[in-house]
Amino acid sequence: MSETRNTEQGDVLPSIALLGVGAMGGAILHGLVESGIDIRGGIRISDQWSERVSELASLHPGITGYDGSVDPTANRRAVDGAGIVIVAVKPHQIRDLLREIADSLGDDVTVISIAAGVPTSALEEHLPENVAVVRVMPNSPARVRAGVTGIAPGSRADGRDLERAKVLFSTIGDVLVVDEERIDALTSISGSGPAYVFHFIEKFADAARARGFSDEDAKLLVEGTVRGAVELLTATGDTPANLRVQVTSPGGTTQAALEVLDAANIDSILDRATQAAVVRAEELAAG
Ligand SMILES: NC(=O)c1ccc[n+]([C@@H]2O[C@H](COP(=O)([O-])OP(=O)(O)OC[C@H]3O[C@@H](n4cnc5c(N)ncnc54)[C@H](OP(=O)(O)O)[C@@H]3O)[C@@H](O)[C@H]2O)c1
Repeated sequence: MSETRNTEQGDVLPSIALLGVGAMGGAILHGLVESGIDIRGGIRISDQWSERVSELASLHPGITGYDGSVDPTANRRAVDGAGIVIVAVKPHQIRDLLREIADSLGDDVTVISIAAGVPTSALEEHLPENVAVVRVMPNSPARVRAGVTGIAPGSRADGRDLERAKVLFSTIGDVLVVDEERIDALTSISGSGPAYVFHFIEKFADAARARGFSDEDAKLLVEGTVRGAVELLTATGDTPANLRVQVTSPGGTTQAALEVLDAANIDSILDRATQAAVVRAEELAAG
């Protein structure tokens, strides 16, 4: 199964409880607010990080903050009556959190987990039998609403639960629906992928410095080139292969450089790197 979607005008979501508003929870909240999507009943946020809760609750009048540092019932109050509950805490914190909120969840709720490496079967175990779970894997560019999120329905999720997750995560970028058995593979591409790109940019800047450019100039040249290449790819809709050929004159400078990259087996390196990420995800899931 594989399916993409973008936020559309007229999309509506039921009230949302967001438990944990750290790096990714905060990114999701910003995306929801900035998209202007219609959320009937508003957004409730809960975390024990008081300053963060107050700061984020002030983003929009439709957000209500629950401060877990002073209110032990904060999570339960936040989920009471919510149509969607997003659990955005660290993987090792999620089981306790689900046990805490289980009795306060409504019948119609969709629980969405962003916890890396925690299968829906493990989440379902801690929730009442009528509660559906959807597992998602966003990535860090979600912070600027340019994320890619993989979405996998759990065994109790139906079309409505899936649609809710698709609409919600479309507010922070592209979404792709996959079977849960494909989530580790997806994580090895889009979840870990931003780090591969940042690593490439770091090494490319090292090469620019080796050609005599200052730090500042290397940053301008490398980051501007990467940004421009991606924007050209997006704007033209052309394939990367065609765009590469267009700037590679036979026997020219670009070809000389590309021959070095190909001789280093860049395709095999990426294949082995992504496979290593999949193997590590399986090891982590096995404990
Ligand atoms: N960051 C990413 O790029 C990324 C990408 C994909 C998936 N994820 C997943 O997203 C989840 C969150 O990651 P993150 O990077 O956003 O972590 P984070 O910055 O540590 O945020 C988690 C927040 O949840 C709070 N929290 C912990 N237990 C809680 C509870 N019982 N009730 C309410 N709030 C609670 C934490 O408070 P304390 O600090 O006091 O514990 C923290 O403020 C993880 O499961 C991770 O696997 C993250």
